[in-house]
Amino acid sequence: MEHAGTNPRYDVSTLPPDATPPHANDGEGPRPGGPRRVLVTGGSGFIGSHLVGLLLDRGDAVTVIDNLTTGRRHNLPDRHERLRFFEADLSDALHALGKGETFDQIYHLAAAVGVKLVVEDPITAIETNIARTIDLLRFARSRAPGGVPTPTLVVSSSEVYGKGAKTPFAEDDDVVYGPTTMSRWCYGCSKAVDEYLALAHAARGLPAVVVRLFNTVGPRQVGEFGMVLPRFVAAALRGEPLEVFGDGRQTRCFCDVRDVVAAMPRVLGEPSCRGKVFNLGSDRAITIADLAALVVRVLGSRSTIAYVPYERAYAPGFEDLRDRRPDLTRIRSAIGFEPTVPLEQTIRDLAAEIARAPGAQAGVRG
Ligand SMILES: NC(=O)c1ccc[n+]([C@@H]2O[C@H](COP(=O)([O-])OP(=O)(O)OC[C@H]3O[C@@H](n4cnc5c(N)ncnc54)[C@H](O)[C@@H]3O)[C@@H](O)[C@H]2O)c1
Repeated sequence: MEHAGTNPRYDVSTLPPDATPPHANDGEGPRPGGPRRVLVTGGSGFIGSHLVGLLLDRGDAVTVIDNLTTGRRHNLPDRHERLRFFEADLSDALHALGKGETFDQIYHLAAAVGVKLVVEDPITAIETNIARTIDLLRFARSRAPGGVPTPTLVVSSSEVYGKGAKTPFAEDDDVVYGPTTMSRWCYGCSKAVDEYLALAHAARGLPAVVVRLFNTVGPRQVGEFGMVLPRFVAAALRGEPLEVFGDGRQTRCFCDVRDVVAAMPRVLGEPSCRGKVFNLGSDRAITIADLAALVVRVLGSRSTIAYVPYERAYAPGFEDLRDRRPDLTRIRSAIGFEPTVPLEQTIRDLAAEIARAPGAQAGVRG
């Protein structure tokens, strides 16, 4: 797959007129006489671009809407006959799409992502995560090819669990947030509202499914917005200290992005999954201190590990979860999901990519 280059960009003014004939399709197979038409929101982001690659490989015609706030155009193929890329805000693009423009499947990944970004600009984060999802779900309901609303997968986050103390987290567990004066919780809350909306639309006939992603890692992830693994890998490659926030004994479960995106079409394509929420990720826990040590070892780096108080990394009073591990029982029994890519491999692949294009990690703190 090609990733670099200067593809001429589409904008909303280039969207096609009402040209697509109505048709009946449950989203499962290619539409008669043509490839399956799929919309991916946030498709030039880290996870979205891997999903788009997978969908193109299986022969789909893919439309991406992304405003490139955190996504990167070069994450997608420069040119591809079955890819359309619209650089636009999601709501603007949906309103501009011709009435005949329908899709067989929708994957909704566009969001303001990550606790750091959200703490710095909570208004944009809340508005992006809630208002865009409202518009997207209404679009999926109203653009019903042959009267069937579009099967839609909404990507949510393990942040929805808030600071619940139970481990592992199962989908029907209670969620517990801190006070509204701590903007840190608005990311999880906004994703929870997205889930309420998706499930409410599902109850009214939209074939919608929600996946709650736990820490997803791999090539094309950037450290700029506070993501831990690319920060560590970039620092290790430069021989600089790896900054571990807090005491480093908090645990997380990291799943390679290629395993995560491979599960998405399987969940959306399985009719019994609709109207449900699924944890999606790895359930192998590692402490952040051990993760830092693993990165140093796998990359043969001379870096040391430096412990940084949360107050210096985030705002005073910042609350983090000690453990965040998914119960994968539901997704295992629904689609037989198992992560396959070892963390060591993910670290090596991420390092190879950063070594090729170190500028892409410009925002990483050393
Ligand atoms: N990376 C993780 O570990 C993780 C964990 C849990 C959930 N998620 C969820 O997965 C999805 C993808 O996250 P990611 O890690 O790839 O992050 P990302 O920032 O790379 O992707 C988000 C994409 O959405 C786009 N976007 C933002 N606002 C938009 C708007 N108004 N209109 C159009 N496009 C817009 C961004 O430009 C970006 O390409 C998000 O919904 C996120 O909440 C990610």
